[in-house]
Amino acid sequence: MKALILSGGKGTRLRPLTYTGAKQLVPVANKPILWYGIEAIAAAGITDIGIIISPETGEEVKAKTGDGSRFGAKITYILQAEPAGLAHAVKVAQPFLGDSPFVMYLGDNLIEDQLSQFLEQFEQQQLDALILLRQVKNPSAFGVAKVAPNGQLLGLVEKPKNPPSNLALVGVYFFAPIVHQAIAEIQPSARGELEITDAIQRAIDRRCNIQATQLTGWWLDTGKKDDLLEANRIILDSYLTPSVKGKVNPDSQIIGRVEIGINTEIINSTIRGPAIVGDNCRIENCFIGPYSSIGDRVTLIDSELDHSVILEGAKVLNINQRIVDSVIGQRAKLNVAPQRPKALRFMIGDDSQIELS
Ligand code: G1P
Repeated sequence: MKALILSGGKGTRLRPLTYTGAKQLVPVANKPILWYGIEAIAAAGITDIGIIISPETGEEVKAKTGDGSRFGAKITYILQAEPAGLAHAVKVAQPFLGDSPFVMYLGDNLIEDQLSQFLEQFEQQQLDALILLRQVKNPSAFGVAKVAPNGQLLGLVEKPKNPPSNLALVGVYFFAPIVHQAIAEIQPSARGELEITDAIQRAIDRRCNIQATQLTGWWLDTGKKDDLLEANRIILDSYLTPSVKGKVNPDSQIIGRVEIGINTEIINSTIRGPAIVGDNCRIENCFIGPYSSIGDRVTLIDSELDHSVILEGAKVLNINQRIVDSVIGQRAKLNVAPQRPKALRFMIGDDSQIELS
């Protein structure tokens, strides 16, 4: 069994963060989204992992993620020269996949369920494919499935105007090698991509044995700002364990589950968990509320924030009104003059500089 993680694409829905970086490296609770997928795959005992990268962000993904040893896995990077679809990515990965069955995992998805139970079902029932589904309120935004009561997959459509059900395709699929034949038989869709949904539909038409199963836990598709904040909230809620490695001065208060990294200084501030602060940060005269993630080398002075994500190297100064529901990009700088506006809500890209005066 091998794994193929897709970490290409342009990340248009997370712009401006993704003008300068891969969407799969945007952190959730200070860890790249992509790494959660790698960890989930390794936890299911699959250690031979291919990662599809794009020419734009591939080097960054490689440099950050490495050869897989930190995950107890072996990672092979595979370049997809153009964003020509998920099925096209599988085609490009064929030399890596050979005739092995594999799990395909979209690198910007997070699921709570363990992969091992699905792997077991796929192997025990000797399926040609196993597709994971979740009920959603807006099926038109996803691939949508029609499923028989016994779990057999009857049909799939990509982003339909009139969805046949409310069951969306989660970006995790188990495939037998027969999928390569189905991919060879499909044509690009109206948007010019080789769609994996079309390939699976082709396999259904060829009477392959394909089952669908619903997740029981949460599923987070981190493609947009609010999804990213929601992922951050759920991950902090579910997994954060308190640990203080930095220096907290006696005027400061740390309440609830809070992780503070090395060489970080907390001066005259209150941090209410769950919250995470990275390494080498300076937090002075601040209130940091629950569900906040602060990356490495961030400076926060005379500011308040809540339910927000601040990326590496950002500086937030003199913002005494509370910053809420915000994502602040790498190295961005916010500095507010004394005459203060009434409300602030941000989606600020990397390298931005904002001064309200
Ligand atoms: C892709 C798939 C879609 C699936 C979704 C899950 O869509 O094409 O079938 O439901 O991932 O995240 P995309 O996010 O590329 O628009």
